[in-house]
Amino acid sequence: MKMIELARGNRSTRRFRQSARLSRERLLQFIETARLAPCGANLQLVRFTPVWEEELCERIFPHLNWAGYLKDWDGPGQGQRPAAYIIIQLPDEDRRHLPVDAGISAAYITLSARESGLGSCMIMSFDMQGLSAIISSPEGYSPFLVIALGVPAEEVVLERAGSGIEYYRDGSGVHHVPKRDLEDLVTR
Ligand SMILES: Cc1cc2nc3c(=O)[nH]c(=O)nc-3n(C[C@H](O)[C@H](O)[C@H](O)COP(=O)(O)O)c2cc1C
Repeated sequence: MKMIELARGNRSTRRFRQSARLSRERLLQFIETARLAPCGANLQLVRFTPVWEEELCERIFPHLNWAGYLKDWDGPGQGQRPAAYIIIQLPDEDRRHLPVDAGISAAYITLSARESGLGSCMIMSFDMQGLSAIISSPEGYSPFLVIALGVPAEEVVLERAGSGIEYYRDGSGVHHVPKRDLEDLVTR
């Protein structure tokens, strides 16, 4: 698939076929692409925690905040929750490139998940204490970004941003994501 098609299709997915479980090996294939990604000073400080066990996924779920713009929706219900997570962990140091490294890793992981037919959603809004009590972190590290993964069970479409950029769900349950035009983003 061409990169532009992959980018178009790589939408944040928040409803999944929960029963379609993902193996640890499958998650490691996505993490392998992040291993090869560029990073500041080639320090390779980002760590990845794959979570595929059903029971652990259930425990992680309540600590994540879903779709802030969808005010009447508390997140996916039972049966539509993520089948796996990859948690990106960073050292508790103030190095300017670390969030960039994490973002590049997340992009590689979500694009490779998409390439293999999965959907994903990056989640930065989560209860740090709650999550940290469930997963283990290397010494001096904390969770920075959670990537939820699974077989998509929702349709997500792009549209041109008019006056607003807030995503919304229409009466048929289709999720709409407004994107600004290229000329609005490119500066001289
Ligand atoms: C850094 C980052 C943090 C995000 N955090 C959350 C989050 O906490 N909860 C959520 O439901 N979506 C989260 N998202 C998904 C965004 O809402 C989503 O990317 C945006 O609405 C555009 O949709 P798209 O990914 O389909 O282009 C996050 C995305 C990024 C890149």
